[in-house]
Amino acid sequence: MTHQDELKQLVGKEAVKFIKDNMVVGLGTGSTVKFMVDALGQRVTDEHLSIIGVPTSERTRQQANRLGIPTKGVDEVDHIDLTIDGADQIDKHFQGIKGGGAAHLWEKIVAINSDKNMWIVDESKMADQLGTFPLPLEVIPYGSTQLFKRLKEKGYQPEFRMAADKHVTTDSNNYIIDLHMHQIDDPKSLALDLDQMTGIVEHGLFLNIVNTVIVGRETGPQVLH
Ligand code: 5RP
Repeated sequence: MTHQDELKQLVGKEAVKFIKDNMVVGLGTGSTVKFMVDALGQRVTDEHLSIIGVPTSERTRQQANRLGIPTKGVDEVDHIDLTIDGADQIDKHFQGIKGGGAAHLWEKIVAINSDKNMWIVDESKMADQLGTFPLPLEVIPYGSTQLFKRLKEKGYQPEFRMAADKHVTTDSNNYIIDLHMHQIDDPKSLALDLDQMTGIVEHGLFLNIVNTVIVGRETGPQVLH
């Protein structure tokens, strides 16, 4: 296991301490969350913890079910107590970029329907300013080449996310365009601009959503509120 993976596992294990019996828990997506779901599965087995997981991707749903964690869809629960998710970059105001794993649409839907949101990251994800991590957009395939041109004209430096010469597709069968902006000076106005562009289903700016961040550091997990 790499050192970065050790830090991811550390925060994953720390995060599950916040899960109590009978909670409805949003389960994020990504390599850090994978460690958290492993630790949660262990608690469900060892302590007979009764919880419902609301997964934010097919990947997470399959992992949770494999480990004996019962899951429901976001429309099958009446509330979500706490969602635990990873992030690609977080600034000092707890604003974040998500979508590196192409799951930010479902992640944002689950997050905004949760009473509390927690992000778990290794320390490399903490930044003074957002933007060095490319900002993901989930876009409708129809008209996406025209949308791409409009994003380019705006100077947003778009790039379709490809794998083996094929478009990466999301769990909703949409495409991903990453914006290589390098520096985002005003996340709020960028979010507003992207919200208004037809064809973008959702962008990866998560503003004023998270309550708690657990950062994996050399010295141990640091819980920030
Ligand atoms: C998926 C995400 C992930 O939470 C984010 O990419 C972090 O992933 P990882 O824990 O693998 O670094 O937003 O869409």
